[in-house]
This record gives sequence, structure tokens and C-alpha cells, in this order.
Amino acid sequence: MPRTTRITGTGSHLPARRVTNADLAHDLASRGIETSDAWIVERTGIRARHFAADGVNASDLALAACRHALEAAGRRADEIDLIIVATSTPDMVFPSTAAILQAKLGVAGCPAFDVQAVCSGFVYALTVADALIRTGGARRALVVGAEVFSRILDFDDRTTCVLFGDGAGAVVLEASDEPGLLASELHADGRHVGILCVPGTVAGGRTLGDPLLKMDGQAVFKLAVGVLDEVARAVLAKAGREAGDVDWLIPHQANIRIMHSTAKRLKLAPERVVVTVDEHGNTSAASIPLALDVAVRDGRIRRGDTLLLEGVGGGFTWGAVLLDF
Ligand code: UT7
Repeated sequence: MPRTTRITGTGSHLPARRVTNADLAHDLASRGIETSDAWIVERTGIRARHFAADGVNASDLALAACRHALEAAGRRADEIDLIIVATSTPDMVFPSTAAILQAKLGVAGCPAFDVQAVCSGFVYALTVADALIRTGGARRALVVGAEVFSRILDFDDRTTCVLFGDGAGAVVLEASDEPGLLASELHADGRHVGILCVPGTVAGGRTLGDPLLKMDGQAVFKLAVGVLDEVARAVLAKAGREAGDVDWLIPHQANIRIMHSTAKRLKLAPERVVVTVDEHGNTSAASIPLALDVAVRDGRIRRGDTLLLEGVGGGFTWGAVLLDF
């Protein structure tokens, strides 16, 4: 059995259409809804997000991210023996976006499935892939976060539609004897289902209930700040490491204020936090692998660095993975 699992390549993809806060404010104004670049930047740190074109689905964004990750790992798609996609905006109710992605990658045979843990999805998926590899169920996995949240936004609700964007990030995770994933912590508390959800469903050939995202932002904010601190300490303790050992904190990119608060509680300098929320908005399960790939490709993250990945979101779910890159 392998001793560890290691990320051997990262990749990401953003749809071409970049929508600035000013663009969004202009569109919303035409519907009689008031917002401003100043409000969005001050409350969230978001300056722009990307929206996928009509007909472009999560699997399409995932495919582009996977191609970059495979190239970075020096692997071909047919060398992959496990595909996990974290998404809350799948192409179809079923089959899984992972199965659709597998076909688009031109391969067949290996297990492929989705993980649904909303904005914690990538941390969940990475943990599942790590466990499967360590127990001999696979040797090389593609672990992906891919979302088209623009499809589930209510553009009449300024409290949510300015926050989210589309994109995908992927990693190749391989069995290894070198240092890699050190520890992981996953949690959920279903008592908070209602504070962040898409309450609609499909039945009898129709959509029943509201198919658009609903969020009690303040409730999510309060819970997020608390659990992100707890889970960071728990995963560090599990690995026998300290906050001072962390080279890069890569939190879920929802709100710059939450990210800075997490770093401050851990006594990490703001420069140690990878921030992409300004340019990507909140891309849910895609936000962590997107941020990881950006910082790997711009040279900030180097081999051997210790990374703390933290997700939090609907469910309520939260989790963290500590790894030596
Ligand atoms: O991805 C999963 C994790 N998600 C999160 O972590 C999100 C957590 N929550 C948040 O990030 C913040 O709660 C928000 C960014 C969603 C909201 O920020 P806030 O500082 O909590 O604002 P608020 O909800 O308290 O609203 C303050 C004011 C309200 O007006 P009044 O009642 O004070 O007159 C809102 O109506 O801001 C108003 N407002 C806006 N104004 C202009 C809300 N949205 C907007 C907007 N533009 N887009």
C-alpha cells in the first residue's frame, strides 16, 4: 500500500466572459435593482467573476481544467483510474458530471462519481480520493471542482447574485512514498440546511419549488468564521503540525473578510493567504482548486510547501486538508 498520496499536477479553467462589478451593477439597474462596485468590494472583496456561455456546462469547464492538470502531471487521461467531480451544478440530474467528464476525456472503465458538499466539495472529494488510493482502490485520480453557479442565481436578489461565478479546478492525485496529504477533517451539520440552499427539485417532469440559490448571508458568515478556525486547528493537531508550519492558506473563496479573519486567528500573515475571490467571485467547489492552480502557476507555491486547504458551505459542511505539496 502507498504511504501517502501526492498532488502531481494542477489545472484550472475560467469561462471567457469576465463580468465586473460595474457590468453587473449596470445590468441590475436596468431591472430596478441597486448595487455598486463600492458595496461589493467593501463587503466581499469581489471585483469580477466569470460566467459561462449558454450551453457550456460544468463538465466542459472540468474538461479544460483536467487537461491542464494532466499536462502538468505529465500524465495521459488513460493513466487515470479514478475520477471524482465535486459540483452542486451538475450537467444533469443524473448521470454524474464525472461520468460525462470521463467520456469527454475519451477514456472508459475507471470509477467516476460526483461528490455533493457544495463549497466544501473539493476538500471532501480530495479526502475520498486519498482514502481510496491509500486502501488500494486506485493509484491515480483526477479530483475536480467544477461549477456553473450563474445558472442557479436569482438576478432579482442583489444579496446573492453579486457573489458567485463559474469555473473549474483540478488536481492529479497519485499514490506516493514521498510526503503528500498529511491529514484531513470533514464535518457537516444538517440542522443548517436552510441557510444556504437551492430548495427546488424535479418531479413529474416539472421543477417543483424554487430552483434558485437562497442564502442567509449573515448566518453563513457567523458559522463559517467559527468552524474554519476550529477545523484548521483540528487538522493541524491531527498531523502534529502548528499554524506556523503553514506556508500557504488556501481557503474557500467566498468573502475576503472571512479569509482574513481565519488567517488572523491562526496568526498567519495576510500575504500567506492565496486570494482569488477578487477575480473569480465565489465558485463554490471550484474555488479551492482554482486558487491552488493560480498560485502554483504564478510560482508562489513551490514543491515542499505546506498547504492548508479549507472549505465551508451549504449543508452546512466544512472541512480541511493539510498537505506537503
Ligand atoms: O460559499 C459558501 C459560503 N458563503 C459565505 O461565506 C458567504 C457569507 N456571507 C457573506 O459573505 C456576507 O454576509 C454577505 C457578503 C453575503 C453580505 O454582507 P453583510 O456585511 O453581511 O451584509 P448584510 O447582509 O448585513 O447587508 C447590509 C446591507 C443591507 O441593507 P440594510 O438592511 O442595512 O439597509 C442589505 O440590503 O447591504 C444591503 N445589500 C446590498 N447593497 C448593495 C445586500 N446586498 C447588497 C448589494 N448591493 N449587492
